[in-house]
Amino acid sequence: MIQKQKGCNDITGREAKVWKYVDSVIDSIMEKYNYNYIRTPIFEATELFHRGIGDTTDIVTKESYDFEDKGGRKITLRPEGTAGVVRSYIENKMYGDPSQPIKVYYNGTMYRYERPQSGRDRELTQFGMEILGSDDPMSDAEVISLAVSIYQMLGLKEIKVNINTLGDNESRKQYRDTLVEYFKPHIKDFCEDCQERLEKNPLRILDCKVDCDNEILKNAPKTIDHLNDESRDRFLKVQEYLDIMGIKYEINPNIVRGLDYYNHTVFEIEAKVDGFGSNNVLGGGGRYNGLVSQLDGPDTPCVGFACGFGRLVKALELEKVKLPIVEDIDLFLLYVNDDEKKYACYLAQELRLAGFIVDTEYTGRGLKGQFKQADRLNAKFTIVLNSEDLDNNEVKIKNNKTKEEEIISLDVLIYYLDEQLASMEDDCDCGCHEDGCKCDDDCDCGCKDGKECTCGEDCDCGCQEGKECTCKDDDCKCGDKKKKHHKKKGE
Ligand code: HAM
Repeated sequence: MIQKQKGCNDITGREAKVWKYVDSVIDSIMEKYNYNYIRTPIFEATELFHRGIGDTTDIVTKESYDFEDKGGRKITLRPEGTAGVVRSYIENKMYGDPSQPIKVYYNGTMYRYERPQSGRDRELTQFGMEILGSDDPMSDAEVISLAVSIYQMLGLKEIKVNINTLGDNESRKQYRDTLVEYFKPHIKDFCEDCQERLEKNPLRILDCKVDCDNEILKNAPKTIDHLNDESRDRFLKVQEYLDIMGIKYEINPNIVRGLDYYNHTVFEIEAKVDGFGSNNVLGGGGRYNGLVSQLDGPDTPCVGFACGFGRLVKALELEKVKLPIVEDIDLFLLYVNDDEKKYACYLAQELRLAGFIVDTEYTGRGLKGQFKQADRLNAKFTIVLNSEDLDNNEVKIKNNKTKEEEIISLDVLIYYLDEQLASMEDDCDCGCHEDGCKCDDDCDCGCKDGKECTCGEDCDCGCQEGKECTCKDDDCKCGDKKKKHHKKKGE
């Protein structure tokens, strides 16, 4: 049996629905922040990564999937999205677009030849965003706030934002020299990788997972103490903008990031939920003002972020976040003979085009088996098509929850289904559509349990962004819902 490659995953079933849902949330938030979707190739010329990122990081030296194609070209499967975006920015002369900065986001597979473990795959999916053409510290803060918004909108609570600065090239060089001098006398007590890093990339010693408890490492000089005035001011500005937006963060001097292209702001967002394991960094990013010019483009300041999809989905699972995933279908059509089957084929098509989620039988099951299949698919309604009813231009439709059956004229079937499904949705606003749902929503936005509503204009309750709805007005849609809830609970 052919099996999937090490470190690769099949995303199927409910998990695939969660991925699609997360995709849709990312798209909608990116739109609000006015980022345009960009798609760049999965493979690029090897020199893009080996030159662009620098040759001192593990991601490039040890983990890159390099090969020669049939034309003898040196190709690399992208280990990350930033370098490809920068290549595209230069190649498509986006720097000439007067509407700078260029704000883009992407979502796709990346490849790193790592030792597979929980949270570390060889084929990974990342979404990320980049702002190209702005040196304003407000854009650093925007990228951080956007990342946080995505996690929050998805319902994650247990996250922590760590920020740091590497300073400009001058500060960074001075800091690098200080670190080498500091670690040199003790380096034999560090892991093999750190010994290698001392000359190549001493900053990476700071976030070594193996040596993280070493007192020497804990007491290492901090970047923040080696900043020139300009770099310090810039970092303070980033913090000021984060404070203005109400983004909570901690300054963590050990955040240095795995890629070589960063200067000034760097940040990582960690999952703090129990059970995550050591690979708990959901995403990270920072400013990379030198990369465009390193790749022969005009000097362009940039900042960005990327998040691992797999880790994000794991955090949602561990935090048991309830997501509005559709796991049921509206209607299952059952039939016995060939004429009824043809009608099932016709009716399914009609109803699907009218917007309903409809399925029917494709494997020759008998009626009993078809009922079981309808249950497996969580069909809200079933119709057993029978020739006699169809001759009378009607069908018998059964509500699978209440088990009530009604005879409906085919002329009004669409209208009937519409009404019935809408009234089922009215029972609960939280999107879970479950029996015994405990949701106490006062509004339609899914903000849950009377907590502060942050949904903005999508909310019907008129409570406006960031405020708890206290409206008691009978004319207000939210007041209606409240009454319905109260009535239902009081009954
Ligand atoms: P990175 O820290 O290398 O940054 O990757 C970002 C995120 O991708 C990580 O925090 C993690 O969630 C996920 N990730 C990385 N490697 C793996 C793996 N082997 N398996 C599963 N998930 C993984 C970058 O890639 C930069 N391009 C971010 C950036 C954008 N900086 C500026 N702009």
